[in-house]
Amino acid sequence: MSTTGTGAGTGAGTDTGTGTGTGTDASTGKPADTGKCTDTTPHTPNDAPHTPQTAPDTDDAFDQDSLPAPPGATGALLRSLLAPRRARVAVAALLLLVQQAVIQAGPLLVAYAIDRAVPAFRAGDHGPLITVGVAYLGCAVAAGGFQYAFILASARVNQDVLLDLRGRIFRHAQALSVDFHERYTSGRLISRSTTDVESLRELLAEGLQELLTVVLSFVSISVMLLWLDLGLGAVAVASFVPLYLLIRLYQRRAGRVYRARSTAVAAVIVKFTETMNGIRPVRAFRRERANEEQFGALNHVHERVNGDALLEMARYVVGSRLVANTAVAGIVLWGAYRVAQDTLALGVLAAAVLYLRRLYDPIDRLGMFLNSYQSAAASLEKIAGLLAQTPSVPEPAPGTGKPLPPLASAQPGRTVEFDGVRFAYRTGGEVLPRFDLTLPAGQTVAVVGSTGAGKSTLAKLLARFYDPSPEASDGPGQEAAAGGRVLLDGVDLRDLATTELRRGVVMVTQEAFLFSGTVAENIAIGRPDATREEIERAAKAIGAHDFITSLPDGYDTDVRKRGGRISAGQRQLVAFARALLADPAVLILDEATSSLDIPGERAVQRAMDTVLRGRTAVVIAHRLSTVEIADRVLVMEHGRIVEDGTPADLIRGTGPFAELHRAWRDSVVGGGKAAP
Ligand SMILES: Nc1ncnc2c1ncn2[C@@H]1O[C@H](COP(=O)(O)OP(=O)(O)OP(=O)(O)O)[C@@H](O)[C@H]1O
Ligand SMILES: [Mg+2]
Repeated sequence: MSTTGTGAGTGAGTDTGTGTGTGTDASTGKPADTGKCTDTTPHTPNDAPHTPQTAPDTDDAFDQDSLPAPPGATGALLRSLLAPRRARVAVAALLLLVQQAVIQAGPLLVAYAIDRAVPAFRAGDHGPLITVGVAYLGCAVAAGGFQYAFILASARVNQDVLLDLRGRIFRHAQALSVDFHERYTSGRLISRSTTDVESLRELLAEGLQELLTVVLSFVSISVMLLWLDLGLGAVAVASFVPLYLLIRLYQRRAGRVYRARSTAVAAVIVKFTETMNGIRPVRAFRRERANEEQFGALNHVHERVNGDALLEMARYVVGSRLVANTAVAGIVLWGAYRVAQDTLALGVLAAAVLYLRRLYDPIDRLGMFLNSYQSAAASLEKIAGLLAQTPSVPEPAPGTGKPLPPLASAQPGRTVEFDGVRFAYRTGGEVLPRFDLTLPAGQTVAVVGSTGAGKSTLAKLLARFYDPSPEASDGPGQEAAAGGRVLLDGVDLRDLATTELRRGVVMVTQEAFLFSGTVAENIAIGRPDATREEIERAAKAIGAHDFITSLPDGYDTDVRKRGGRISAGQRQLVAFARALLADPAVLILDEATSSLDIPGERAVQRAMDTVLRGRTAVVIAHRLSTVEIADRVLVMEHGRIVEDGTPADLIRGTGPFAELHRAWRDSVVGGGKAAP
C-alpha cells in the first residue's frame, strides 16, 4: 500500500492512495526501491512528451528537503506562536529578572562585609555583620523561590506553544494537495512534527532561560563592575568584543551544521518509515541487506553532522574560556598591584573577582543557548518552509464555494464534463494532452485501455485530487492560460464548495484504506451520522455483511487490531459499502474489484445494479467482465479516447476494443478449462 498520498486533501468517503508508492530516497533523490511491488506503472513513458511544469529548483528543494521559507518567515512563525501568550511570557521574564537581581546582590554583600561589617565587628558593633548574614540568606531563599515560579510559568507557555505548533503542522500538511505528499513523503512530516518540534522545545525550556540569564547577568555585572571601579569594569567590558566576534563566528558555522542535521534526521526517518511501510516487498525481494546498507549510510551521515555540531560547540567553549581566563588574569594582576599601591580596597577587588567569575560562568551556558538556538532555528526554518507551502488544489475560500444546482430528476446522478483538459504530473510528462468528454447524468461508463494510458489520472481529476495543469505559455510575456475545466452539472470543480464536491464525487480505488477504528466506523466515514441499520444495509447490499458478522466483534471489530486478518478483498468490500453509504452523485471505481475473487466480484457485480442505478459512474477495470454492466465503453490510449460506444457495438466492430474483448474471452475460456 502506498504510504504517500493518503488522506491528504480528501474528505470523507473517498478512498485515497494512488498506489504509486513514490517515496524518494531523501539523500539521493532517487526513487525509492521499496514498497513498489504493486506498482507496475511505467513512470516515464517514452511516448509522452516531457514538459516539466515547475522550475527545476523547486524539485531540488523537495529532493534536498529544503523547501524555501519566505524571508523572515522563521521569526514570524516564532512571534506568532508567542504573541497570543504575551502576558505569560512577560510574567516569566519578570520573574527571571527579579531572580537575577536577587542573585547579583551576593558579591555586593560580600564587599560590604569585608570593607564595613568586619571593621565594625572588630570595633564591637555586631549589628552590620548579622544584617549582612541575614540578607545573604534571604537572597538565597528568594532566588530559589523566584526560580521555581519562573519554571512553572515558562513551562506552561512552552507546552502551549508546542501544542499549537504540532497542531499547525498537522492541519497544514493535511490541507496540502496530493501532489505535495507524493513529493514530500510522510517520513519528513514525521520528522518535522517530532524532531524539529522537539528542538524548539529545548530552546524554549532551557535556551531562553539561559539567554535571559546571560544577558541580564552581563548587563548587571558590567554596571556593577563599572560602579565598583571604572578601570576594572572597563577591562571586563573590553573583553566582550572578542567574545562577541567568537559568538558570531560560532553562530554562522553552527547554523550550517544544524540545517544539515535536520535534513539528515529526516532522511533517516524517511528511510525507516519507507522500509517498515513496505516490509512485505522488502521481505519478498530480500531487500534487507541492501536496505540495511542504505540505512547505515544515512545513519552515518546523521552521526557525522552530529559530530560536526559537537565540534563547533567545543571550539566555541574553548575559545570563550580562553578569552575569559585571560581577562580574569589581567584584572587580578592589575587589581592586586593597585591594592598593593593602596589605590583599591581589598573588598572591592574581592567583589570584582567574584563578579568576574559570575560574568564568565554563563559563557558556557551561552554556548548551550546558541546551540539550542541554532538547532531550533534550523528546525523552525524547515517547519516555516512546510507551512509556506500552499495547496496546488486550493479549496474555495470559506463561504465563496458554489453549490450544485438542484437535481433535475429524482435520480442522484449528475452530468460530468471534461472541457479541453490538459494535465501533466509535476514529476512527469504530459498525461492528458487535451481531453474532452461528456458523461450524461446517470450513465455508467467503463474506461479500458492499456497500463499507463491515463485512466486513473482521469479519475483523480474528476475527484479533484489534482487540477488541470496550466497551459505552458508560448513565449515570454504570455499569460499561462488555464488548461481546461472539469465540470459537475456545469460547475467548475475549482469553484465548487468542498463539502459539495466530497459529497458529490466518491472514488473507490484498488487500495481500500482502512482507518483505525471499527468496521462500522470505517463504513460510515462518508456519512458519520448514519445509523447502524443504514450501515448494515449498505454492507448487505454489497455482500460484505457475512464476512463482517463472522469477525470477532462483528461491526465493532477494531480493524487495526484485527487489521492483518482483514484481507485485501474484504477491505475492498468495506470500501464499497462506504461508497454506497455516502450516496454520491458520481461514483468512480478504479480497479475497485481487482482484489476480489470470482464469486466476490460476481456478487459485487450483481449489487452494482442497485449501487449504480441513477448515478453517474466511471468504472475502470482490466477485467472486462465488469464492462458488461456499462452503458458505454471508452477505450483510452496515451491520454486520448480512441473508441467510444456501447459495449455491444464495440464488440461487434473491428476496433481495439473488439480485439481486447476477443483476447480476454479466449483467456477466460482457456482459464475456465484449467480451473474446475
Ligand atoms: N503521481 C504521479 N506522478 C507522476 N506521474 C504519474 C503519477 N501517476 C501516474 N503517473 C504517470 O501518468 C501516466 C498515466 O498514469 P495512470 O495511473 O493514469 O494510468 P492508468 O491508465 O490508470 O494505468 P493502469 O491501468 O496501470 O492503472 C503514466 O505514464 C504514469 O507513469
Ligand atoms: Mg490506474
